[in-house]
Amino acid sequence: MTQRQDGSDRDRPLGKVYLVGAGPGDPGLFTLKGRDLLDQADVVIYDALVSAPILAMVNPRAELIAAGKRRGYHSLKQPEITALLIEQAQCHRTIVRLKGGDPFVFGRGGEEMAGLVAAGIEVEVVPGITAGVAVPAYAGIPVTHREYSSSVTFVTGHEAAGKYRPDVDWRAIARGSETIVIYMGIHNLSNIVNALMGASLAADTPVALIRWGTRPEQETLVATLGTVLDEMIATGFAAPAIAVIGQVVNLRSQLADGCPALAIPEWTGAAVGTSSSPRAPKEGTPIVRME
Ligand SMILES: C[S@@+](CC[C@H](N)C(=O)[O-])C[C@H]1O[C@@H](n2cnc3c(N)ncnc32)[C@H](O)[C@@H]1O
Repeated sequence: MTQRQDGSDRDRPLGKVYLVGAGPGDPGLFTLKGRDLLDQADVVIYDALVSAPILAMVNPRAELIAAGKRRGYHSLKQPEITALLIEQAQCHRTIVRLKGGDPFVFGRGGEEMAGLVAAGIEVEVVPGITAGVAVPAYAGIPVTHREYSSSVTFVTGHEAAGKYRPDVDWRAIARGSETIVIYMGIHNLSNIVNALMGASLAADTPVALIRWGTRPEQETLVATLGTVLDEMIATGFAAPAIAVIGQVVNLRSQLADGCPALAIPEWTGAAVGTSSSPRAPKEGTPIVRME
């Protein structure tokens, strides 16, 4: 067993683990409670989608451990992360498990908390702003609107390799929800689009894909269910992104002026360049695509 900071090595866990949501990237969206914990932490175990400005808030005494988790680059497997948290709780007082967005929204926070509770470790969740709400908002898209959408579904599009395969009923979602917000959907988008159109959604249903939302590198692609796959290929649009499907996407043409100013040029359907500024609009192309 690892020795504790106070020199003792009794079996009882000493530390408390905080599962902290870091939000989607903009440090201004991080909670005050989360920031205070980064100030007090002895160790911070963070995921790949936590932004650099938020990691910069970690006090200099704390140990920083990358737990990874981007598609294809899982640096630690889930049981290893839980085991690491338990181990750290036996030698530190304040352990922050820092996750992108909200820990309990497609963040495996529930699994980690269950593992810690089962191990007798004190644990507390600190919610964060989830990408599915903030990222569309930063692109001028409200996920509900009294005239266009009184229901929204948050769903994972991730068809994972391995044991976990979400069994999503796309037919029920197409029929039952006016706005559909998809996390981790880019790699599986062609299956999702086919399933939604095979259910009841029309080819001209508006779609927005927003990548690296709330960050300076935010990029938005606006299309329809019928065109989005071609546009995605033409532009080389890649994860991590949120997909929003529904009439609320059209509001973006009215509401874009109210978005936080990130000085972000928009993709216009043109092929992505390989220069250091691939998002710069070509001459003569509109900065915001109006639909
Ligand atoms: C494992 S899920 C984690 C979700 C997170 N717990 C939350 O509440 O936002 C990762 C996915 O969230 C979405 N995501 C997270 N941050 C994002 C951002 N800044 N811009 C666009 N999508 C983001 C992407 O779909 C990404 O693949």
